Amino acid sequence: MFLEIIGLVVFVVFAIMFAIFWFDFKSGNGKLPEAFVQAKKNGTIAPKLIRVFKSYPDKQRFMLFWLQMQRIQACKLDGDLAELGVYKGDTAQILHLMAPEKRIHLFDTFTGFDEADLINEKGEAATYTPQHFADTSLEKVKVKLGQSEKIIFYPGKFSEQCVKASKIKFCFVSIDVDLAQPTSEGLSFFYERLLPGGVIIVHDYNPKWPALMEAVNKFVKQIPENPVLIPDKDTSLVIVKNNS
Ligand SMILES: C[S@@+](CC[C@H](N)C(=O)[O-])C[C@H]1O[C@@H](n2cnc3c(N)ncnc32)[C@H](O)[C@@H]1O
Repeated sequence: MFLEIIGLVVFVVFAIMFAIFWFDFKSGNGKLPEAFVQAKKNGTIAPKLIRVFKSYPDKQRFMLFWLQMQRIQACKLDGDLAELGVYKGDTAQILHLMAPEKRIHLFDTFTGFDEADLINEKGEAATYTPQHFADTSLEKVKVKLGQSEKIIFYPGKFSEQCVKASKIKFCFVSIDVDLAQPTSEGLSFFYERLLPGGVIIVHDYNPKWPALMEAVNKFVKQIPENPVLIPDKDTSLVIVKNNS
C-alpha cells in the first residue's frame, strides 16, 4: 500500500511537471525576453501576433525580429520594411504585424528558385531545383496577409523587380533566399538604401549553405560595420548601419 502511494505521488509530480512544460512549450512562454513578457502583460502586442508566435517554428528568430523592430520604433526611425524571400509569407506576416504602421515590400518569384541562380551553388543548395519552394503562389500569400495598402508585392526575380523600389529608403530588411546570387544582390541593393540605424538580417548563415556564407563574407568586407551572428536555429547575420 505504502509503495503504491509513493508511486502515485511520483506519477502526479511528473504529470504536473510535464503539464507545465507542455503549457510553456505550446504558449511559447518559456525563456522569453523580459521586454516581450512585459509587453504581453501590458497588452501592447497585437493578439494576432501572439497567436502567430505560438506556431512560428523558430522562437529565437522571432525574438530577433521583434527586438529589432522595437528598437527601430523606439528611435522613430523612418523608412520601410522589406523581405527578400517570402515563400508562403510566414515571416512576412509577423513583420507586418510587428509594425503595421510601416509599408512592407515583399520580393519573391512566388514560383520557386530561378534556374540561373542555382548554377554555382554548393552544399545543401547544390541539391535544389526550380521546384523547391514552388508550392506557393502570390494569391495564397495575399490571402494569408490580408488586404492592406501597406503591403507591396514584387512577384518575379529579384534582380528584375528591385528597380521598382529603387527610390525607397529602408529601416528593416530580412533576406532569406537560401542562395548566394540573390543574397548578394539583396545585400547590395538594400544596404545602399538602408537608413543609419536600420538593420539587415540574413538568414541561414551556416555551413549548410557555403556559397551563401562566401557571398555574405565578400559583401561585409566592403562595409564599415562588423556583422553580429545570432544563434537562432539556422544562424542569422545582422548588420546595423552606422550613423555616417
Ligand atoms: C527559404 S524561402 C523563404 C522563407 C520565408 N522567408 C519564411 O520565413 O517563411 C526562400 C524563398 O526565396 C525565394 N527566392 C530565391 N531566389 C529568388 C530570386 N532570385 N528572386 C526572388 N525570390 C527568390 C524563393 O522563391 C523562396 O520562396
